[in-house]
Amino acid sequence: SHALRAHAEARGLLVGCAVVPEKLSSEPAYANVVASQCNLLVPENAMKWKALRPAPDKFDFRGGDAILAFAQAHRQRVRGHNLCWHEALPDWFAATVNKSNAREILERHIQTVAGHYSGKLHSWDVVNEAIDPASTRPDSLRSSPWLDFIGPGYIEIAFRAARKADPSALLTYNDYSIEFDSPEQVKKRDAVLRLVKHLRSRNVPIDAIGVQSHLDAAAGLPGNGLRDFVRELHRMGLQVFVTELDINDKKLPADIAARDASVARIYRDYLTMMLAEPNVTALLTWGITDRYTWLDAPKYGRADALPERPLPFDPNYRPAPAFFAERDAIDSR
Ligand code: G3I
Repeated sequence: SHALRAHAEARGLLVGCAVVPEKLSSEPAYANVVASQCNLLVPENAMKWKALRPAPDKFDFRGGDAILAFAQAHRQRVRGHNLCWHEALPDWFAATVNKSNAREILERHIQTVAGHYSGKLHSWDVVNEAIDPASTRPDSLRSSPWLDFIGPGYIEIAFRAARKADPSALLTYNDYSIEFDSPEQVKKRDAVLRLVKHLRSRNVPIDAIGVQSHLDAAAGLPGNGLRDFVRELHRMGLQVFVTELDINDKKLPADIAARDASVARIYRDYLTMMLAEPNVTALLTWGITDRYTWLDAPKYGRADALPERPLPFDPNYRPAPAFFAERDAIDSR
């Protein structure tokens, strides 16, 4: 087979993408590419609080369950995203959650959701995007309902609850803008490392770091800082997952062939660099076809309004240069 998953499976790697359950059931071309290319799936939105919690006392697992059923039918693993984040909270959240009940609500959410999928998932993003380099706190934690209501201990609470509810999922801290060596990203990456060390020193269960990898085609490649970070995590016994790779081309001129070539070059070099590290064990793109990407939302899209081309397959499900670059990088393992 010429598919990504066949090349990955020959090397013991997990490869895949973020998926939308409605498209798996309604669009055969989408379902086919996901089934043939991936051995690991993650819900783009279906396991977020907003999707799972229509009301404070109701859980709706239909989207997540549909992804799990699809994955089981196609011999794929699934990772959960996410249990604790400051975004994608349901509309009832602000009027319901406060200082006196936040801990109990977070723990019950994790117990119920991670419990529902217990034994079935590869990993969970337990805490997502907790660090903000603009934070004035010494630990660089981002202001969020969780931090504001529970305090910095919410991270430890979330990881402990996740391990208890699902002892077999790899527990992950996931974040973005930690790839480059700009002062801001170095500050953020250092804060992630300090957080991991802090958690480890308190025997908090954590198994992996998710490096989201929302990259910019005009920015070129990261320096050595990311590789050193991955190696330090390896020495601590932690895995690293590339969790949300996509490459925006909004700073490049309109020519499609040139944009595709720039995006593909970064796919190749970035992934070759990451996959040279033995503790990088899984690789996901944030979508699979340029037909559907969050980068086309009006607030993120190109100034000329042309669709972005950030993913391995083009809008008509033809493999793009990025596909071949990703496959070559897998082969370099
Ligand atoms: O479901 C509603 C729909 O009913 C409504 O008609 C439509 C109109 O705007 O909005 C739909 O919800 C949107 C949802 O995506 C589904 O398309 C939300 O407004 C929109 O905020 C949401 O955006 C998602 C975003 O996370 C926030 O949850 C993106 O799809 C998703 O790609 C993005 O993913 C994040 C990761 O979770 C974490 N890392 C960064 C990454 C990219 O931002």
